[in-house]
Amino acid sequence: MTYRVATVRSAFPALAEGAAHFDGPGGSQVPAPVAEAVARVMVSAVSNRGQVTAAERRADVIVAQARQAIADLLGADQGGVVFGRSMTQLTYDLSRTLAKQWRAGDEIVVTRLDHDANIRPWVQAAAAVGVTVRWADFDRNTGELPVSAIAGLLGPRTRLVAFTAASNLLGTRPDVAEISAAVHAVGALTYVDGVHLTPHAFVDVRAMGADFYACSPYKFLGPHLGAVVAAPELLAGLRPDKLLPSSDAVPERFELGTLPYESLAGVTAAVDFLAGLVDGAGTRRDRLERSLGELAEYEGGLAKRLFAGLSAISGVVIHGSPVSRTPTALFTVDGVPPRSVYEQLALAGVNAPAGHFYAVECARWMGLGDAGAVRAGIAPYTDEADVDRLLTAVAALAAGNRT
Ligand SMILES: Cc1ncc(COP(=O)(O)O)c(C=O)c1O
Repeated sequence: MTYRVATVRSAFPALAEGAAHFDGPGGSQVPAPVAEAVARVMVSAVSNRGQVTAAERRADVIVAQARQAIADLLGADQGGVVFGRSMTQLTYDLSRTLAKQWRAGDEIVVTRLDHDANIRPWVQAAAAVGVTVRWADFDRNTGELPVSAIAGLLGPRTRLVAFTAASNLLGTRPDVAEISAAVHAVGALTYVDGVHLTPHAFVDVRAMGADFYACSPYKFLGPHLGAVVAAPELLAGLRPDKLLPSSDAVPERFELGTLPYESLAGVTAAVDFLAGLVDGAGTRRDRLERSLGELAEYEGGLAKRLFAGLSAISGVVIHGSPVSRTPTALFTVDGVPPRSVYEQLALAGVNAPAGHFYAVECARWMGLGDAGAVRAGIAPYTDEADVDRLLTAVAALAAGNRT
């Protein structure tokens, strides 16, 4: 393995503040090249997109580069990359647009494993047009969502299945390709929430069979915005509400108002940073495959250390099965409310928040209620010392609670 965590860490100015960051699933820290790319745009001549002035052309190039970066990251067509303020906003927009094609009596499927951003927009859009919502339950002991949980709900009236590629609460990873095959067999579309998976895996949306795949660059070292990718031909058949004079081209048709050019430059820089996590040659997609493969191996090793350490602490309960998941641990400490664990860890310089993290159906289905549990997520800049600091702090508060 050629992953060099010390080199990676040195690129993150925020780490100098001293905290051990397990809050990556909420939002990752940003490496200097990303911040510099954002700043460069803000001090360069940039105007709105156009072809006449250099300032207009620069904005145009920034957008094209960011689309290509996301396309390379996800194995998508750059002509089908839609940017928006957040995954939530894009999903609301697309749910309303897709619902225009639904008829009363049609059906959609959502899952209890998902973040609410991939549930509520669909439930509300369905209610507006008289479409039935079917709920797929997951195994509350393991956190796994088997293909059968969705396949059993599909039928001739199913129009869309919205499901996650990885739970942001438990880290468990449904088999996206298998689920998509079952969904496509009944002629329905898949809307895959890739927000939590994308920072941890080499994604290939075509191999996954994702008709729509959503992600949020601020979870993978980039700025705060969202992106959804789909085949341009699929997008061409959709008619979102839009302003009369704004472009009707795909994907611009779906992008309401002016894009955040500085943030888009940061997206490109974040993808380039990920592609360069380890040395390598080839296209950016080739380098991403290698880098993200090495990263997954590195993060997997740290996750093993984290799970082993947490399991060894008396009074700690780990939720969900520790296999086939992103490097994300969800745990509680007997007799200590999750919020107190979170606060006490913060005092020890360990950022590992507690809650349901908007996966509120998931937390309730697990029996955790709205207090949820403590989530510790590993990121590209996490090292063994961070993990040990977390384990020491959790052990101390678990022991303190017993005395
Ligand atoms: C799995 C998952 N889906 C969706 C979202 C919402 O993303 P955004 O903040 O871009 O709306 C999040 C944010 O935490 C998430 O973790």
